[in-house]
Amino acid sequence: MQDLDAIVKDAFAVFAGINDADELEQTKARYLGKTGALTEQLKGLGKLMPADRPAMGARINAAKDELEQALSARREHLQNVKLEAKLKEESLDVTLPGRGSGVGGLHPVSRTLERVEQIFHSLGFEVADGPEIETDFYNFTALNQPENHPARSMHDTFYLQGDNAGGKHLLRTHTSPIQVRYMESHKPPIRIIAPGRVYRVDSDATHSPMFHQVEGLWIDERISFANLKGVVTEFFRLFFERDDLQVRFRPSFFPFTEPSAEIDMSFGDGWLEIGGCGMVHPSVLKNVNIDSEQFQGFAFGMGLDRLTMLRYGVNDLRLFFENDLRFLRQFR
Ligand code: PHE
Repeated sequence: MQDLDAIVKDAFAVFAGINDADELEQTKARYLGKTGALTEQLKGLGKLMPADRPAMGARINAAKDELEQALSARREHLQNVKLEAKLKEESLDVTLPGRGSGVGGLHPVSRTLERVEQIFHSLGFEVADGPEIETDFYNFTALNQPENHPARSMHDTFYLQGDNAGGKHLLRTHTSPIQVRYMESHKPPIRIIAPGRVYRVDSDATHSPMFHQVEGLWIDERISFANLKGVVTEFFRLFFERDDLQVRFRPSFFPFTEPSAEIDMSFGDGWLEIGGCGMVHPSVLKNVNIDSEQFQGFAFGMGLDRLTMLRYGVNDLRLFFENDLRFLRQFR
């Protein structure tokens, strides 16, 4: 039958032109589905003379087989094309240079802090922490600087605006409030360091509005200025790995210590101011309900950024906070 050959030819051409697997399956129905061209042919068998039916039936079935074969050949082809495209897309050129894994590293100031904590830990100090947004009370008043005390102007303070939480809030200007909080909640003996970020209205090559301090506090019975000198000197010698490092205590003033001193250090050529210290003022102890007749102690404070500059020979503090990777990578 002429019709049958035409259907097969047409189907072959149509299948060959299809590039999408779903479309191929849909097109299949046009020939082999319930109302497909070949199915219609089979339905027409009944109208033939009985004698002609077997031969015609066999021809239709043969045509069906041909179409099925053509379909699976096309299916396979489309699958191969898809696979090849995928392989190409995922191909790995092992000759390309590696991308590197971008290993991070600690910030130089963090390295200094870790080192400082390690050293003080070996001297028996715990690490204490506290909030960066402080109240006027913890930052000043409890530290023997009541309102209008002239010493408050030693710190150029950032005050918080729109503050109606009762009591003025500010960005802590030193980490001493950590020690006040600690003394409020712990009984002597107390031996802590208090590291952290602090804030002052100040900005140049050696001052940043945000910088880092570490302060220390040792309260017990029979703690003297000699202990202070011993601990501070031992710390600096360990930190800078120099047994010949000299430390000198120059009389000074802080409201929360009496007597007070500036800490200077020297590698042999001139003196560098590196911190402040003193014996904790009896009024401060009284403010946190520690009996100053029974207990005494010393406190000291220094800049972590300053220590980092000295240890690595960096001369501009601002470099630490600009996040320039070319600078920071040198400390990895
Ligand atoms: N809190 C002082 C400051 O930031 C430093 C200091 C700490 C001085 C402890 C003496 C004793 O200026």
